[in-house]
Amino acid sequence: MTDRYGVIGHPISHSKSPVIHAQFASQTGQDLTYAPIDVAPDELVNTLDNLIHDGYKGLNVTVPHKNAVVTLMDELSNRARLAGAVNTITAQDDNRLVGDNTDGIGLVRDLTRNLRFELLDADILILGAGGATRGIVPSLLDESPREVLIANRTLARAEELVSAFGSSGADLGNIGACQFDELQARQFDLIINATSAGLHGEVPPFPDSIIDAEVVCYDLSYAMKPTPFVAWALQQGAEEVHQGWGMLVEQAAASFRIWRGVRPDTKPILANLP
Ligand code: ATR
Repeated sequence: MTDRYGVIGHPISHSKSPVIHAQFASQTGQDLTYAPIDVAPDELVNTLDNLIHDGYKGLNVTVPHKNAVVTLMDELSNRARLAGAVNTITAQDDNRLVGDNTDGIGLVRDLTRNLRFELLDADILILGAGGATRGIVPSLLDESPREVLIANRTLARAEELVSAFGSSGADLGNIGACQFDELQARQFDLIINATSAGLHGEVPPFPDSIIDAEVVCYDLSYAMKPTPFVAWALQQGAEEVHQGWGMLVEQAAASFRIWRGVRPDTKPILANLP
């Protein structure tokens, strides 16, 4: 029987996940369907229940539900608990729901395998301290960078995030918090934009001096044209600038593997990205 999967979000029509998972399924010969499912926030609990009782084996979760589904899971992976967010739900045979989060490993895999970036001993700057940052920090720290500095418009939010990781009991290494203007005269190997400012066409007041020709810049957002952060970094002289298409494909591959036990080859899909 064909197994059913899907992605829940609101809105959902723009999601690329159905196309990506359909390609993974045909490549690996797995018999499954994958549907985009629009779920308004006030319908989340009921719809999730209905989908599982209709026989869905697994769901991806996207904006705005990643945090809300955490409390609806029967079990959470460590990384989902640390991230405070779930992007992959697996329904077990007895309909118990297991929540996982593949965003962080998706980013790490894109950086290390696809872009050949060495995270070991790297100085990493993350811009922004919201849900997106929380999702990626544990996986980045697992790679033993020299430092992960989180810079945010609202300092208290960055500090809260750092202390939440510090009190999580995990060995989370060297992590700090600051504001944008404290970044003057600092140099990094990797700068990750995890603010949502680009969604409103904005680039926050990051100091120009953090960009030079050597630093690798990565925007977690992606679009058919350069995102505001990507355009800004290029303008400041960055030579290696990426948007989050690779992370999108790699987190999907990690979800697919959790569900089906086989890892799809992401290369053919990555080759056709903007
Ligand atoms: P997400 O889940 O996408 O991370 P979020 O939790 O709402 O969304 O977090 C948004 C992040 O983008 C925050 O770090 C926010 O900064 P504040 O904590 O100071 O609000 C940041 N952000 C959004 N718009 C911004 C802007 N115009 N300038 C600077 N930072 C911005």
